[in-house]
Amino acid sequence: MALYSEKVMDHFRNPRNVGVIEDANGIGEVGNAKCGDIMKMYLKIEDDIVQDVKFETFGCGSAIASSSMATELIKGKPLSEVRKLTNQAVAEALDGLPGYKMHCSVLAEEAIQSALEDYESRQGKPAEGAGT
Ligand code: FES
Repeated sequence: MALYSEKVMDHFRNPRNVGVIEDANGIGEVGNAKCGDIMKMYLKIEDDIVQDVKFETFGCGSAIASSSMATELIKGKPLSEVRKLTNQAVAEALDGLPGYKMHCSVLAEEAIQSALEDYESRQGKPAEGAGT
């Protein structure tokens, strides 16, 4: 049996939603100290819905596939659902990851939750650049 599922290979070779959202209102960056991989998530949230999401991942193939799949899972979704996203759900959507690569999907979960926290911490504060 192949080490990686076809879905992992597909999302690794053709990652969805790669890039930066210039006017993102939630940004999260996380890293794994052991492997040194870094993942950054940009969220554009309006009316409690993820209108757009993009990522930049400096990391292994599984991390790239996990971030790509995670963006697909949360795009267009209400924040109540996004908060519940687990690395397990990301790995399952990829038809599984080898055990020693599960931490790559954890990075995707953490990056999204960190971006969500950033969004929430910005709420109630004056919008940046809103000065006259
Ligand atoms: Fe660390 Fe994949 S090896 S994120």
